[in-house]
Amino acid sequence: MKTGNIFRGIFITTAIFFIMGTAILTAQDKYELKSPNGISFSEVRGYEGWKVVAPSYRTDKNEIRFILGNDTIIKAYREGIPENGVPFPDGSILVKIAYSERKSPDFPAAIEPDVLQRVELMIKDAKKFKNTNGWGYARFVYNAKTNTFKPYGNDASFEQECNVCHTIVKGRDFVFTKYPQR
Ligand code: HEC
Repeated sequence: MKTGNIFRGIFITTAIFFIMGTAILTAQDKYELKSPNGISFSEVRGYEGWKVVAPSYRTDKNEIRFILGNDTIIKAYREGIPENGVPFPDGSILVKIAYSERKSPDFPAAIEPDVLQRVELMIKDAKKFKNTNGWGYARFVYNAKTNTFKPYGNDASFEQECNVCHTIVKGRDFVFTKYPQR
């Protein structure tokens, strides 16, 4: 091998390692993010694999959503909460993942999730979150261009926005989503 080729080889290898290193360093760890009210994204670590409570669809936003629950809330739903008048137990967590929609490229009559929009969560702790009727709220907005999340809200007061609308379903312990038969 000529010395020139060796140097070129070393240069290219170094460049590749540099690019890979930069990509690794700039990749966001979403679980390090914190909502302005102090709730960390890591409170729902592993939600990607949680059980489905139900899907939903917003006709005014053309969004498909999955509502997922941790084991505590899935057990509570199966016991008949909140229809039986019992509030969800502390430690119950709900996660809502919203997507824009598109026609299936394989079968246009079918609609499927397109781009991730945001991840929202609700954590039940009657004492800790008593200012928002026992639920802690957080929203993380996704930016597909940069593949990063950003916490929603300029300060902690954003959670009253969540709380006010969820008061529509006060009689269901502030939770809209029902657990359908399966
Ligand atoms: C204008 C009304 C409104 C506001 C404001 C609102 N929500 Fe909701 N939320 C809903 C409705 C309706 C649903 C039912 C499912 C759906 O629409 O996809 C829901 C569902 C949810 C769910 C799934 C559990 C459930 O109750 O069904 C979570 C988690 C959630 N919202 C979090 C939030 C957070 C966090 C905020 C504030 C940053 C917020 N919501 C603000 C109306 C609202």
